[in-house]
Amino acid sequence: MTSVTSLTDQVQQRLANALSATRPEADADPLLRRSDRADFQANGILALAKKAKSNPRELATEVVGAIVTGDVIKDVEVSGPGFLNITIADRAITENLAARHADGERLGVPLKENAGITVVDYAQPNVAKEMHVGHLRSAVIGDALRGMLDFTGEKTIGRHHIGDWGTQFGMLIQYLFEHPGELAPAADVDGEQAMSNLNRVYKASRALFDADEEFKERARGRVVALQSGDKETLELWQQFVDESKVYFYSVFEKLDMEIRDDEIVGESAYNEGMPETARLLEEMGVAERSEGALVVFFDEIRGKDDQRVPLIVQKADGGFGYAASDLTAIRNRVQDLHASSLLYVVDVRQSLHFKMVFETARRAGWLSDGVSAHNMGYGTVLGADGKPFKTREGETVRLEDLLDEAVQRAAEVVREKAQDLTEDEIQERAAQVGIGAVKYADLSTSPNRDYKFDLDQMVSLNGDTSVYLQYAYARIQSILRKAGGASPAAHPELELAPAERALGLHLDAFGDTVFEAAAEYAPHKLAAYLYQLASLYTSFYDKCPVLKAETPEQIENRLFLCDITARTLHQGMALLGIRTPERL
Ligand code: ARG
Repeated sequence: MTSVTSLTDQVQQRLANALSATRPEADADPLLRRSDRADFQANGILALAKKAKSNPRELATEVVGAIVTGDVIKDVEVSGPGFLNITIADRAITENLAARHADGERLGVPLKENAGITVVDYAQPNVAKEMHVGHLRSAVIGDALRGMLDFTGEKTIGRHHIGDWGTQFGMLIQYLFEHPGELAPAADVDGEQAMSNLNRVYKASRALFDADEEFKERARGRVVALQSGDKETLELWQQFVDESKVYFYSVFEKLDMEIRDDEIVGESAYNEGMPETARLLEEMGVAERSEGALVVFFDEIRGKDDQRVPLIVQKADGGFGYAASDLTAIRNRVQDLHASSLLYVVDVRQSLHFKMVFETARRAGWLSDGVSAHNMGYGTVLGADGKPFKTREGETVRLEDLLDEAVQRAAEVVREKAQDLTEDEIQERAAQVGIGAVKYADLSTSPNRDYKFDLDQMVSLNGDTSVYLQYAYARIQSILRKAGGASPAAHPELELAPAERALGLHLDAFGDTVFEAAAEYAPHKLAAYLYQLASLYTSFYDKCPVLKAETPEQIENRLFLCDITARTLHQGMALLGIRTPERL
């Protein structure tokens, strides 16, 4: 692996050198950015001039004299009050891309120097319950964040904190105990059957629980048996977990997402540690007893009537809940998994919970300054009508139905466009297009905003959709196939057309973009980059004939630009969890 220094970094370096040669004491940032007027613009001289009490234009001219040009920088001009307009040499652009092209899948992107360990808590449905669109968002965003972080060299560990513990299991298990055989062995059912069995048991036990006081009592006894580890009770509980996993896996498979069994570590896994968590918090004085419960108060978190809202670690009846499992999980993730960052991809409506949990863990010393904790709270999924996503009858939409519909819509689009595909091929592409569309629509919006689930828009060929990107990729592959004897090869001696330069400079920014998007937990920045890449490619393709270019070198160089664009698209989409079929 040979990493490539981006042109931005090279220019930045040259400017920084020139600045410190001109004003050694100042330590000024050149404030470099891409620009429409030239390739780059640097605005940092204005601030420096202010500090050094010099005339900005004069200072700019002085700095220009100190900038090394001729290799990377072709030309620097002073503009306006003291900006620098910088033009990159064509040769430097092509050579830079050639080095990336030679580096295979990493495209010359270096690995982070001080990589840490990020534990990503995502894709966390609940046992014995249907998944909803919120779980879809968590899975899609979490998977993309992991892809991007891993690419930078960060080590990620997944944790699927599934809801597999708590008082509701008393009711379920007691029902199963009294009605044996209602859940078929997990090995014998598919995802759909598993969920319908679970639903049936859930409804029946709920009805009994609400109607029958004696059953209610027996169910409460079951909770105690479960928490104290009674063998028979645990076996029945395990049946719910296994049956639910069959269902989860079927949804994740449809989503084209790999979920590892050893990373499914649900609330129950922290059961044993919870009493200790509570004891330590109480001993340290972080938590206090209030009306029998063990709670943590925060001065600034107040509810109605200005009353402080507590985080409940242990209920008055001795039971532990959601907060206790999260606090115990933090101890495990920091102390045993050695995490330097904790990331939670969880609905923004739980942000207060996480705020209190993190603050409690900080007070207890379980989260030190060296460890960051962040709830990447995503917004609600809305229907095309702008209201929370529901069926026409007002019910929650089944995820499998939703994904099936996306694939079916995609099949219509693929079929319309495809001339030479068999029906099998159409179905295979449709799955990649349909699932890609769902993922991309989610990832291309800033995660903390609500977003509209609008299938028509998602599978549209025009606009900011994954299909548009997938078509751009497939079109490039088709050009490469049609090239016959000519193959992609860089020719740094060639002059570049404006559309080639724009494309080339954007390709160079791939690594910087992934690093920024990963550091900010912002997959939509990578999505926006890829969309712009496809748009720049389209204008390159419109303006610069590839196979009909004037000279053989020109043809090879343009094929080379096509190829590295395709590879970058492919890699970027892969980081987001989206496939790029070779043909569409
Ligand atoms: N199972 C929860 C839900 O469906 C999400 C769990 C989020 N993760 C966590 N560590 N609390 O709402």
